[in-house]
Parts: sequence; structure tokens; C-alpha cells
Amino acid sequence: MPRPARQQPIANSPQLASAWKRSFRTKLLAWYANHARDLPWRNNRDPYRVWLSEVMLQQTTVAAVKPYYERFTAAFPTVEALANADEADVLRLWEGLGYYRRARGLHAAAKQIVAEHNSQVPRDVPTLLTLPGIGRYTAGAIVSIAFDQRAPILEANTIRVFTRLTAYRGEPVKSAGQKFLWGVAEEVLPERDIARFNQALMELGSLVCTPTAPKCSTCPVNKLCEARRAGAVDELAATTKKLKFESVQEAAVIVRKGNKILVRQCGPTERWSGLWDFPRFECDSAKQIAVKLTAQTGVTAELGEVLTSFKYGVTRFRISLDCYTATHKSGRLAGPHLVWRTVEEIAALPLSVTGRRIVKLLEKKVERE
Ligand code: ADE
Repeated sequence: MPRPARQQPIANSPQLASAWKRSFRTKLLAWYANHARDLPWRNNRDPYRVWLSEVMLQQTTVAAVKPYYERFTAAFPTVEALANADEADVLRLWEGLGYYRRARGLHAAAKQIVAEHNSQVPRDVPTLLTLPGIGRYTAGAIVSIAFDQRAPILEANTIRVFTRLTAYRGEPVKSAGQKFLWGVAEEVLPERDIARFNQALMELGSLVCTPTAPKCSTCPVNKLCEARRAGAVDELAATTKKLKFESVQEAAVIVRKGNKILVRQCGPTERWSGLWDFPRFECDSAKQIAVKLTAQTGVTAELGEVLTSFKYGVTRFRISLDCYTATHKSGRLAGPHLVWRTVEEIAALPLSVTGRRIVKLLEKKVERE
């Protein structure tokens, strides 16, 4: 039984009992031997592929990641291939996976690895931490999974597993909680077979110790779980606070000039930095559209019908988007990030998910015309 579990709040050093740790490791590895999913990134210890899979898996489910991982590794099979790629091609392959900052970080880090590390993914945590987009978790995952080094990992799955195992009552994402949970992650590590052990921990969190309806009755370590003993499994589920949703009304404008349409590349401070989109802005009433369009693009246009309307979610925002057609009247484009392109040319650009949805509609329209 993990001793600190009865303290409130729990001490910073977990100090798990030796017998508990031995039992935990044996049971977990035996379970993993029979239950590990056959995932594409598990067939390969190439550090580049481990790194890529772990970056894709941040805030994203295994099911969503699989096809992206396959396409990405087919297009960019090595660090050099990724480093030499155009950012637009990298973003195009990331399109729909969200959190595009991950793709830009990966690309920048690949360039740095080629320039400064002889194209070899660094084998130690401190050097990995100097690369863009690589934090303590990703660095630990790379060195443990690819190189079997004795490094702890802590991500959404393992936060939940350790929180329940120790019945930790503090906030897991606050600094005291992180300190405690990183301590647990370090303490539970066996002497060897770290690659399998760390993946087994994540697999347990992903398949058994789930946020809702955890499968405690078939959990291989249920007898070692302090939350189960205390009847607190369900209340010790959240790794982050529930988001408060906020409603937003947006307008996108499909401005036509002949057979071309106006598109803009999102700037470095925008959510979809590097991706292309139609002019788009928050907008509570249709009256504001003309003014906002000119402010964003430099052109004036005659507004037409609503082509489509749909709702989508990004982080805590629940956005209602009205998509207007328009015809160019006058004015000069406000910068080089604004261009006129045919529907076919736009379809080849990396787009926001909603931008892609609009382009699909436009493609159908062009077919009908
Ligand atoms: N979540 C994050 N990394 C993972 C991995 N390697 N396997 C399964 N789920 C994960």
C-alpha cells in the first residue's frame, strides 16, 4: 500500500513501499504483455518516430492519431526529410489534428537536429529540452521508449493512474501536484525494461483507468489502488478543470474576383498560424461585415447570400460560423499574406478544418457550374 495516501494533503515525496513497487511493476508488465495494442509506432524504436507519435498523441486520441502518423511517416520518413520539407506541406499533413503549434515545433526541432546534432535525435533529456516543442514529458518518453533509459514520464493517462493509485487529493496540474506526481513517476520506475514499463503505464490509463467508468474490477493493480480502497475512484478522475464554454459568432467571407477567391495566411500570433483561411472575424451582426472585411483585407466587396452556416468548437469556444459569398468591388490587398487563388489552388493549401469544409462546398459548386 502506498504509505502517503492517508496524509491530507499528501507529502511531496511519495516514498512508496518496496514491496508495493515490486508488486505493481510485476502486475503491470504481466498485464501489458497480454493487453498492449498493436499501434503503428510500437513496431519501431526509431527515436524520430517515437518523438513524432508522442507529439501527435498530446491532447489527441490514439484512434485520431493513427492515420495521421501513417501519412506523416510515409511523407517524411526521417528527421532530414522533415527538416527539408516546406512548412505548408508539414501543416497540410497535420490538417485536422489541431494544435498546429505542435507541427511547427516539430518542424523547427527537426531543422535544429539536422543543423546542430548531425541529424541524430539527441539521446539525453537536457539536450532534448533545448529543442522547440519538447518538454519534460516528451523528452522522457523519447529517451525511455527509444533508448530504454531510466526516465520518468507524466502525461494525461499517467497523471490519472498515479492520482488514483495514491489517492492524491490535491490539484494534479498545480505545481505541488506536479511535483508529487513526477515523484511517483520516478519512484515506480523499475531498474530496466523502462520502454515497456512506461508504455504499459500509459496503456493502463488509456484502456483501464479511464476518466469515466474505469474498469476497476479487471484492473491488474486494483489491490494496490488507494482510491479504490477509499471508494474515491470517480472523484479522482479529473486532470484538468472542466472548461466553461463561451459562445462566439463569426463570419467568413468568400470574396470572388473573376474565377479567383481571396484567401489569407494566418499570422504568427493567430491560432492557425501558417495555415490558410478565408477572411474571417468575430461578428455579431451582418452590418459589421463590410467594415471588418476591409479592415482585415484592404478590399471592399458587395455581400451576397449565406453560402453555409455551421457550428464548431475550438478549445473552450463554441463558434457559430456564417459563411457569406461576396463580389470584389475595389481596394488593394493589405499585404503579401493575402492572395487571389482559384478553388483548385486553394484546395492544395494547408487550411483550417472549417476552411477545408468551405473549400469542399466550393469545389462541388464549381463542378455544378
Ligand atoms: N498517450 C501518449 N503516449 C502514448 C503512447 N505511447 N501509447 C498510448 N497512449 C499514449
